[in-house]
Amino acid sequence: MTAVDASVFEGSFWRDPYPAYERLRTQAPVREVALPRGGTTWLVTRYDDVRAAFTDPRLVKDHRATLPPELREQAPRLPGPFGSMMVLLDPPDHTRLRRLVSRAFTARRTAELRPRIEVLAAGLLDALPATEPVDLLAGYAVPLPMAVICELLGVPDTDRDAFGTWSRALVDDHDDVDQQQATTGLAEYLYALVKTKRRTPDGALVSALVEVSDAGDQLSTEEVVAMGVLLLIAGHETTANLIGNAVLGVATDAALRGHLLADPQRIPAAVEEFLRWDGPVHNAPMRFAAEDVEYSGTTIPAGSVVTLSVGAANRDPGRFDRPELLDPDRDTGGHLAFGHGIHFCLGAPLARLEGEVALRSLLDRFPGLRLAVPPEGLRHRRSVIVHALEALPVVLRPPA
Ligand code: HEM
Repeated sequence: MTAVDASVFEGSFWRDPYPAYERLRTQAPVREVALPRGGTTWLVTRYDDVRAAFTDPRLVKDHRATLPPELREQAPRLPGPFGSMMVLLDPPDHTRLRRLVSRAFTARRTAELRPRIEVLAAGLLDALPATEPVDLLAGYAVPLPMAVICELLGVPDTDRDAFGTWSRALVDDHDDVDQQQATTGLAEYLYALVKTKRRTPDGALVSALVEVSDAGDQLSTEEVVAMGVLLLIAGHETTANLIGNAVLGVATDAALRGHLLADPQRIPAAVEEFLRWDGPVHNAPMRFAAEDVEYSGTTIPAGSVVTLSVGAANRDPGRFDRPELLDPDRDTGGHLAFGHGIHFCLGAPLARLEGEVALRSLLDRFPGLRLAVPPEGLRHRRSVIVHALEALPVVLRPPA
């Protein structure tokens, strides 16, 4: 069983990755698998292994740490803004960059955003046709987190559409040309934004980072750009699909919908269970083995790419009882949808709040919403990182 497993990321996987995860977890919990765009990664799928691997210092983010010390300095960083993104860096750079932004995303600061998020959600719902099919992803789940993160960063309304296209190209398994264009497009946009904020500061996050950068040697302009790109992508691709997957859940599960309509106070717990059961990020962004690393009796050779499958871990029966059941009353404590350790999701409080407000506002206004197509007619995106629908056609107020 040494050959690379080429059967994971293909076929029905995009729609329903969980059978493949179950097979791996039970038969080959640490396995080298082929990636759709070429190359391979070692996929770790058991809960205990994934959780331990998140805090294993031998698994690094910067590929240069896998090289002998004499080669490290000359080795190229990842191109463009990627080389300075904290999610792809290790301490001490990661620590320095994360400290600079973490204050803006604490649970307390985030909670202050609730009224604004409610207004944004209501505005989007106002604009949707109630009695004819509408794509709830394009009309609600995508623009809501996009508007929130753009306001936090200080990105003007008029520039938002381009982000959707760029960040999608970065997350999906399309060809490399799209990716290259998206990277360049985003980086160029952010460089121009930094210039604007330097001339006209506005108190939002990019402006604040520009001030830090101009005040000393704590942060380079390239790092400000990288942070902006990271927050824009991480801040909306993920949460949009949390909302999309959760709305699909309530639109197809009458008992669950009844449960949440009867007691909206249960929505936060349901959001937490959606994160465990079908979280939008099913595989954490890659790591590298700086030395040989053993999990579940299998050695991952030094230099390998390693992917921690949080989607597989969150369905591990060794950790969660009857994990395939969506049960809003279960104890979801310890789920790994936001990762674990030093790279634990910076935006977790914001994502939870957005998920809750999105679901509450939608159910409050359209308690009878239904899918506009049979569930088999829904299409999913080809992405190793996000488990996401292409579109979510619903009728908000179906005829009685
Ligand atoms: C990191 C998931 C929403 C910003 C992560 C990681 C996961 C994750 C699994 C860990 C990556 C790793 O260890 O390699 C999610 C999910 C979300 C969500 C499931 C929505 C439901 C957000 C939002 C923001 C955000 C709204 C915006 C502020 C970040 C950042 C990191 C991160 C900046 C990197 C942290 C670091 O490297 O220290 N996220 N995320 N995420 N997330 Fe989220």
